[in-house]
Amino acid sequence: MDCKQMLAQLNPERMPKHVAIIMDGNGRWARKHGVKRLMGHNKGVSAVRELIEVCVEAGIQYVTIYAFSTENWRRSKIEVHGLLQLIMDSLIKNIAELHKQNIVVRFLGSRDRLSKNYKDKIDKICSASWNNTGLRFNIAMNYGGRRELLDAFDAIRADIADGKLPDEPLTDEVVGQYLYTNDIPDPDLIIRTSGEQRLSNFLLWQSAYAELWFTDVLWPDFRREHLLEAVLDYQSRQRKFGVETK
Ligand code: FPP
Repeated sequence: MDCKQMLAQLNPERMPKHVAIIMDGNGRWARKHGVKRLMGHNKGVSAVRELIEVCVEAGIQYVTIYAFSTENWRRSKIEVHGLLQLIMDSLIKNIAELHKQNIVVRFLGSRDRLSKNYKDKIDKICSASWNNTGLRFNIAMNYGGRRELLDAFDAIRADIADGKLPDEPLTDEVVGQYLYTNDIPDPDLIIRTSGEQRLSNFLLWQSAYAELWFTDVLWPDFRREHLLEAVLDYQSRQRKFGVETK
């Protein structure tokens, strides 16, 4: 089946509203091709571009990518700075294009450890797309799921102490409001590439009922058809949310 046929097969009523992606395998792709790791990340950016295009074509409303985790700081200085620069530069270079496509860009994660230069770029990228109404493109940057929860609990404690929040047992809704994703629905489908099968500290709270889809494809080789294959597979599943099967 080609992409056109796959798109035609999609059931618009069962589209995942939010797809989140753990883009893994850039380093292995680079090794396989005998090039530097950063070249793998570079190719990964092209795969992100194709991902955005297919999400728009398929009518997905939210897509979140795991671009840089709180753990990624432990990589070599060269890789960390090369990767951060690559991400920022490619977004800045594509600001006009993203705007033309009506895409809303948002960053999820902690701002600390990011230099002023990167924070300014993040603000510039977000404010340029703020009023758009199309695909919501979320970039998890300096993101860690545990860190997100700790930040949320600290903010909740502070708000209770200040009397801004009643001192009552917490609910899912209250916690949700304090997460980086406060106005983003939970992911329906989480995709991980490169054959690894774990969440690696990604959207820990939000993934409670997400469907997971794994592929051996390395992220730089991820194409339209892989996303469509994942969505078609998702549409064939029965989601239960802890309730018995009908
Ligand atoms: C994991 O592969 C990938 C990353 C840590 C970086 C992903 C980032 C991008 C593809 C750039 C995103 C671009 C934009 C525009 C937001 P790995 O290096 O862990 O691969 P390995 O496990 O094979 O070593």
